[in-house]
Amino acid sequence: MKILVIGGGGREHALVWKLAQSPLVSEVLVAPGNAGTLEEKKARNIPIDSSNLDKLLELAQVEMVDLTIVGPEQPLVDGVVDLFEAAGLKCFGPRAEAAQLEGSKAFSKEFLARHNIPTASYKSFEDLDEALHYLRSSTFPVVVKADGLAAGKGVIIAETLDEAADAVQSMLDDKVFGKAGSKVVIEEFLYGEEVSFIAIVDDTRIVPLASSQDHKTRDEGDKGPNTGGMGAYSPAPVMTEKVYRKVMQEIILPTVDGMHSDGMQYRGFLYAGLMIDHKGNPKVLEFNCRFGDPETQPILARLKSDLVTLCLSAFNGSLDSEEVSWDLRASVGVVIASGGYPGSYKKGAIISGLDNISTESSKVFHAGTTIESNNVVTNGGRVLCVVALGDSVTDAALQAYKDTEKIHWDGAFYRRDIGYRAIEREKTPE
Ligand code: AMP
Ligand code: GLY
Repeated sequence: MKILVIGGGGREHALVWKLAQSPLVSEVLVAPGNAGTLEEKKARNIPIDSSNLDKLLELAQVEMVDLTIVGPEQPLVDGVVDLFEAAGLKCFGPRAEAAQLEGSKAFSKEFLARHNIPTASYKSFEDLDEALHYLRSSTFPVVVKADGLAAGKGVIIAETLDEAADAVQSMLDDKVFGKAGSKVVIEEFLYGEEVSFIAIVDDTRIVPLASSQDHKTRDEGDKGPNTGGMGAYSPAPVMTEKVYRKVMQEIILPTVDGMHSDGMQYRGFLYAGLMIDHKGNPKVLEFNCRFGDPETQPILARLKSDLVTLCLSAFNGSLDSEEVSWDLRASVGVVIASGGYPGSYKKGAIISGLDNISTESSKVFHAGTTIESNNVVTNGGRVLCVVALGDSVTDAALQAYKDTEKIHWDGAFYRRDIGYRAIEREKTPE
């Protein structure tokens, strides 16, 4: 069968790599893909942007694609699944209505409240004066969030009233996020450790995937500005058996049941960003309607089952009968980014050292890369993600860093502490 993957980042490279391993698959088209997907067996890059839904549909029809898998959130929120379904095509992901779980913070907070799912207390505002009035009686820090999609930049943790007031003003008045910031959510700051919980969902059926943790900020020690994610690893030891059971019972099952009872059948990857407090109680920080980036890279490196079979089973109602098997080793993915990221950065730097990495030790997933005059060059903020497996997170990280160090370009940088929480735990087992 022929598969189409929509998107061109590290997540999509990992999806293409994994999907192409299925014996069911003859070809994987990827729109637009990157220099990494270009090299994958069975894969073919198609230069169509992931926002161009009409062209993507035309491609799927002309190429007679059997299954489309959507990487990023924007096309899902914009209704790519609705469009493909109306044309009789299988497209894996939630419809626009259900994708609001990620597309609108106010929608997801109302949903959580309606279904009694634990999350930070909150209020949403469209009026600046009302928001400022509320802030004057708040306890700090608070978290100010733009309602709509803002490429991970719409969340501001404000330590003081002044900071919070500035954030609210910049969103509601100065419109720094355009329409995405015409409504804001102000919520309680939660303390604890974050974890990413991703599942494959088909209406009421759920297959949980391996746990993972990403590092969202630019600098070591989880400091500095937020990014799309500077690295991730799997499994996340904070997700003990006990915490896992709580997450399933208190969050994942009620979410999936809630979507069903609200009449919004959810099919696709469902990603819950969770905060686990010191007592092991989980609360929802956010939902994403897609796989995580960079979590996909270390998670899929551990998935032994056929991802195509799993996705297909979400269409024929057999998802709960699926047995998913995992490599018991841990995986660590280190993102190498362009100097300046998450602010502005240069493109077009020649990347060297990729050939020095043996496929035995690590897999290098590409994100912002392209080919210019036969060279692999940088083409984005997050450029590569080097993923290695190991008997522990410590071992996997050692190998990932050994290979990361072999890769160079002018201005490249990466965090040297990916996985540090798990590594600390491995030093002092509980
Ligand atoms: P979100 O896009 O809502 O996940 O927010 C991005 C990041 O901001 C999260 O991964 C957390 O690190 C942080 N964050 C969001 N909401 C909260 C909260 N209520 N308390 C503490 N940190 C938060
Ligand atoms: N790694 C965070 C995300 O994919 O949203």
